[in-house]
Amino acid sequence: MRLVLGIESSCDETAAAVVEDGRLIRSNVIASQIDLHRKFGGVVPEIASRHHVEAILPVIDTALAEAGVTLDDVDGIAATYGPGLVGSLLVGLTAAKALAFAKGIPFIGVNHIEGHIYANFLEHADAEPPLVCLTVSGGHTELFYMPEFGRYTVLGRTRDDAAGEAIDKVGRLLGLPYPAGPDLDRLARNGDPQRFDLPRGLAEEDSLDFSFSGVKTAAMNRLNQLRQAGEEVPRADFAASLQEAVVDVLVEKSLRAAVAKGVKTLFLSGGVAANSRLRERMTREAASLGIRVYAPSLQLCTDNAAMIASAGYYRLQRGERSPFSLNADPSLRLGS
Ligand code: KG4
Ligand code: ZN
Repeated sequence: MRLVLGIESSCDETAAAVVEDGRLIRSNVIASQIDLHRKFGGVVPEIASRHHVEAILPVIDTALAEAGVTLDDVDGIAATYGPGLVGSLLVGLTAAKALAFAKGIPFIGVNHIEGHIYANFLEHADAEPPLVCLTVSGGHTELFYMPEFGRYTVLGRTRDDAAGEAIDKVGRLLGLPYPAGPDLDRLARNGDPQRFDLPRGLAEEDSLDFSFSGVKTAAMNRLNQLRQAGEEVPRADFAASLQEAVVDVLVEKSLRAAVAKGVKTLFLSGGVAANSRLRERMTREAASLGIRVYAPSLQLCTDNAAMIASAGYYRLQRGERSPFSLNADPSLRLGS
């Protein structure tokens, strides 16, 4: 097993990549539909699946061409089968199964969340389990303990909104285009994080679970109050305050989890792992505890197929195969 073709279509990016030996990216092609969804303020499932259908084969062809290979050189095909939007997932999964069947290439279904974790292995040659991983995106906020490759225990997860969802919803009220995360990050750099006092969900509790609906609602109410009072919203201060409220809990709980598990390696993964404040504070505060933080580069934090190829590689390498009857699972979970 050397070259794995990865395919990802769980949300609004159609992506294909060729990865060598699980860690070396030979090509990584992403066709984003963000512009099509932006005017609706979020991803419209119908539109997403229709565009995946149009993009999937050209994207796969481009990934193979950029890697300088053909399907005959590919040793395995890995595709996301969940979680995500069912109509979107089915497009990439079906393409992967069809190609694997027609060419007699080993096939494996990959959990999207596991893929996000593997974005770190693509870029950090020295990174190895045991580790704790914070996976934080528009759809997920979870803390995993990974004792070895392929094994995950859930230490905590959000009880309501994902961190990225809270950021995107409040960001929209601040007038930022969807998804708001990158713009909020930039705006917050010139803001005062102490200006607005927003709630830190479940911060006082022993549990490693998260809750972001409280901060989301409080922030939205505060914005509406300011507007109704005819006051101008200090956008940078507001963005910084929201970001700080979210980052505070993410850092505190992740470090607590790493200490409880006695690991010296902490991974950040998922779209929100691109947040500069989260990266900076997590790295600094972990270092004082002797814990090393790894995060993917910005383009590998958000959805891509290289991470799927990498996760698939390690499974194929262990001899795992998925049946062609494997179905898309929109609410697939990772770990026990
Ligand atoms: O992993 P991803 O591409 O898709 C999901 O699986 O959800 O994550 C997208 C999420 C969005 O909520 C987006 O606003 C957020 O990641 N995001 C950020 C940043 N870049 C992307 N959030 C905060 N700061 C950023 N720099
Ligand atoms: Zn994702």
